This record gives sequence, structure tokens and C-alpha cells, in this order.
Amino acid sequence: MCGIVGYIGKKPAAPYLLDGLKKLEYRGYDSAGIALLQGQTLIVRKEKGRVEQLEKARSAAGTAGIGHTRWATHGKPSKENAHPHVSGKFALVHNGIIENDYELRARLIKWGETFSSQTDSELIVKLLAREYCGDFLIAVKNVVKQLRGAFALAILCADFPQTIVCVRQGSPLIVGKGKDYLALASDIPAIAGEGVSAFVLKDGEFALLRETDVFFYDAQLRKIEKEQTEYDLQTDSPDLCGFRHFMRKEMQEIPQAVKDSLLQIAQAEQSACLRELLRRTERVQIVGCGTAYHSGLAAKAAIEGLARIPTEVCIASEYRYRNPIINANTLVIAVSQSGETADTLAAAQLAKEHGAYVAAVTNVPYSTLTECADLLLPTRAGREIGVAATKSYNAQLAVLYALALLFAEERQKDVLAQKRALQAMPQMCLSALPVCEEVRGWSSYFLNARSVYFIGRAEDYAAAAEGSLKLKELSYLPGEGYPAGELKHGTLALIDETTPVIAILTRKDLAEKTLNAVHEVFSRGARVFLITAFPEYRNREEVFASVLIPACERYFSPMLSVIPLQALAYYTALARGNDPDKPRNLAKSVTVE
Ligand code: AGP
Repeated sequence: MCGIVGYIGKKPAAPYLLDGLKKLEYRGYDSAGIALLQGQTLIVRKEKGRVEQLEKARSAAGTAGIGHTRWATHGKPSKENAHPHVSGKFALVHNGIIENDYELRARLIKWGETFSSQTDSELIVKLLAREYCGDFLIAVKNVVKQLRGAFALAILCADFPQTIVCVRQGSPLIVGKGKDYLALASDIPAIAGEGVSAFVLKDGEFALLRETDVFFYDAQLRKIEKEQTEYDLQTDSPDLCGFRHFMRKEMQEIPQAVKDSLLQIAQAEQSACLRELLRRTERVQIVGCGTAYHSGLAAKAAIEGLARIPTEVCIASEYRYRNPIINANTLVIAVSQSGETADTLAAAQLAKEHGAYVAAVTNVPYSTLTECADLLLPTRAGREIGVAATKSYNAQLAVLYALALLFAEERQKDVLAQKRALQAMPQMCLSALPVCEEVRGWSSYFLNARSVYFIGRAEDYAAAAEGSLKLKELSYLPGEGYPAGELKHGTLALIDETTPVIAILTRKDLAEKTLNAVHEVFSRGARVFLITAFPEYRNREEVFASVLIPACERYFSPMLSVIPLQALAYYTALARGNDPDKPRNLAKSVTVE
């Protein structure tokens, strides 16, 4: 959460900073700000709200600067809490969270400091101003020693024109070197460009950017050499391609994301590392948050059903507090689109400490999760800008299903039919996309719902959980994804004529049972919206509206049933006047625990 950017060059810094911040807005959009050095004077511009609010700063002079787009942790979204924060000769932007904020703030107050914001970041710049004795880098090092938590910092000092110091501890930070300028950012797309080399900092590393030179240091300030990171230039050019929102565009890209991800794992199939993993794994634990957790729920059914390997799915933020049972034959699969989710990283770290083998299923090959894992199983969803995960979910499923099949083959199961079925999924996704327009009309029935229930059994329950999350995060309507059979054990009390129910039914053998639940909610006055692979259930009297998705191999059905669910969330958000690409209180990359 929060995105930071920096620039030093011959041209004015402000346009570069603003354009970079726009590319980082997926990390937060509560407020934005920039600081520029004009000679030895620090100029700061900040605004509450999105980066576009800062446009008037575009013409500000200064060829060195730093910028920030915020997702509020300490202190409400406001101009005062916007970064950069300034004290004495220093201006600073911070992505992350300072855990000993209370203690440090109390110390500073005791020393007579006053604060103009409620942020944890302001205390860092105050400490810097106090520590500074003429050596910029040493001052930063001395302050960093006092901080606990996660941070990526970029700092200007009025005594050092054309210089930025930055440091990383737990939050991502990339340095870019162009032909005649230097840059830094929380993510590569903000600095990517023709001829720009990218260097991903590791935890504890510092960088000093001066004029056109960059110097890297370890935690003890010993100079180090860093390898440049390969990246895909296309990450730099997100385009709406005629769509109104990235989310809608990214849903259209689902077939390609699935296809590319399947190709990617096919290429990895023969790697010695993967073969060894397939042979020795006795148990699987999947960890992730939000949508990534839900893709784990869907994958569990496939791994257990096809390969007969016991599989647990754990919410990453809970996993680390339950002393998980792990041994060397446990495979922990950490699933994360961004590869930067703090809870997932902590879970992966813990699993490694306990001796597990950790595989990362991530969309960002240069991410911290990749760095920490023993094996990378990349998704190839392409860049996902909408805060709500769409194509990345389908891509995660593609990789996890393919892995389930590899495990099954290794255990001599006959899964030829399922292998063929998985190869057909990109085409199936393509055939499912037209239902998005069919569910568009449903949104008017959800506008004022008191809550919305999503029900299904087995794989359909996994999809229901994801559908519910999507609707909550985009439309702000309360609701729940619930196992259809469990309703009658208490939750049915919440169902009445104000509660639309979405029922998902893709397994013939479960149809009767799921339809029982449909009947129960219908009897309580709920309108039932059915997503099914079977036309014969669409005309039942309990069904208010329905869409037909293609019938596929049972384990893979969430990949299709999620498509109308994503569309429903999108169109309901629009109908309620919300921005589906930037829902309130959320960020795409959640780098705090
Ligand atoms: C998805 O729509 C969410 N915005 C969110 O749940 C997300 O999936 C979660 O924060 C995990 O992110 P990651 O995949 O980048 O780890």
C-alpha cells in the first residue's frame, strides 16, 4: 500500500513524478504529494484524493524530486497526512508501516517535537533532522536502525541537490537508470522505459542516487554491486483499449491469461526442481489472502480429487499464528498476484523456517515472494490494474489445476481426460464471456439489497466465496459466500425478500441438493439468481433469473462460474455510482500486516 517514486535528471521532475504516481495508484489513492528541490529549497505540493488532484503541480520547477500516493494506515486520508513529510532540511516519502511508532513518537514529543500529521511517517523525518550531522547516508542509516516494521523510504536533503537516498526494509523498492536520469519507485511499471535498467533492492539495502550515478549499499553501508532485473516493457503501457474501466478490460483478457499461464507451466514441467517436488510432496498447504485464498479453495478440490494429496487452504494472516504442522515433505504454495502481500510473505517465511518447500504462484516474477520461495510457478495474467482481482484469479486456477494434474500423473493416475479438459479452458472462458452482458440487467435488483448471499456446494462454494468478495469490495453491499447445505443450520434466519441469493450449480450430481437450498431461500421470499451449466434448471419457478455457462470438467468450473460473478460485481458497482477500478479503502498490493 502506498506508492513512492523519485526522479533526478536534466528535465523537470514534476511531470515524471506525477506520471509515475498515476501508474502506482493501484497501491492507494487517498492522497498524493510531491517534493522538489529547487536549488537548496524544498518545495512541497500535496492534495487529498487522487493523483489527478495534483495536476497543478506539473509545472513546478526542480529537476530532483520524490512523490507519494497514499493508502491510509496511521491517520485519516487528509492533506495534512499526505506525504511528503518535511522536517528541517529533509523531505521524505514512506511506503509501509512503523510498528514502534508509539514509542518513537513519545520520545520525540519528550524532546519537544510537535507533529503536524497523525502519520507514523512524520516521525521518521523528524528523527532524520535530529540525527543529521552533515552526512546524508549515515543519518538515514542511523534512523533506519531505530525503526521496526516495513518500509521503503525515499528522501531528499536540501544540502544535497540532485541526490536522493532510498532504503528498503519489507516494502518493495526499485531503482531505475535511464540514459540521462535516475529514478526509483515501488513497482517497475512506474519507471519502465526504453533503455531503462531496473535494480530491485533487497531488504536492508540502501541506494544513493546522485546526478547520473547510482550506488548501492548493504545494511552496514558497504558498497555492493547489483544485477539488473529483466522486465517486460509492455508493463509500461496500460491502455483501456476502449473499455470504460480496467476491470472490464481485464475480464475480457481472462482467456489469454489462462492460456499464457498454462503455457508457462508446461514449459516448467521438466525442471528438475519441479520433478523433485512432485515426487516427494506428501501434503500441501496453500496460503493466500482474499482472492488468492479463494483460488486455493478451488485448487484444494482438484489436488485432493485428482492426485489424492491431502491439501489444506489457509488464510495467510491466520496461518502464522497457528503453529502449522509442517515437515520437509510439505509443500507450501503461497499464492499472490502481487507477490508483495505482507501476510502471505510472512506465512511463506514461516513455512520455510519450519522446513517446508515453498512454491510461489505469483504474477510478478521480480516480487519479494519470488525471492523468498524455493520455486516460482508464475501466472501470466499480464498487468492487472483494477484493484479487484479478475484475470489473475483465473490464471492462478490455471497454474494450480495444472499442478494438480502433474501430481496426479506422478502418482500414476489416469488424468488424460482432465488434461485435455484443462487445455480447452481458455476456449471455454472465451465462450463464457458473453454472459457478462446478460448479468448486467441483474444489478438493478441488488442496488438496495440489505445483504446478498452466494451459495453453492464443493467447487461451486469456492466460486461463491470469490463472487461474494467481489461484490462486497466493489459495491459495498454486505454479503457472504456460503456452503449451500449449511444455510439451514442458522444462516437461513437472515434470508428474506430483501436478500438476493445467487446460486451456483455446475455439478449434476449435486443438483438436487443445491436445489433444495434454492427452494429453502425461495420459500423465505428471496429472489434467486442462478448460474448454471445445465439449461434444464433455468425454468424452475424458484429461479428469478439465470445465466448458462459452458459445462466443463467439474474441478475446473470455478474458472467459468466466476466470470458472471465478476461481471455482477462490476455492473452493481457502476449502478451504485462506485468506481470499480478504485474501490474505497482498498489497495491492490497490501504490504502491511
Ligand atoms: C481481490 O479482489 C482483492 N482486492 C484482494 O482480496 C487480493 O486478492 C488480496 O489482497 C491478495 O492480493 P495478492 O494476490 O496480491 O496477494
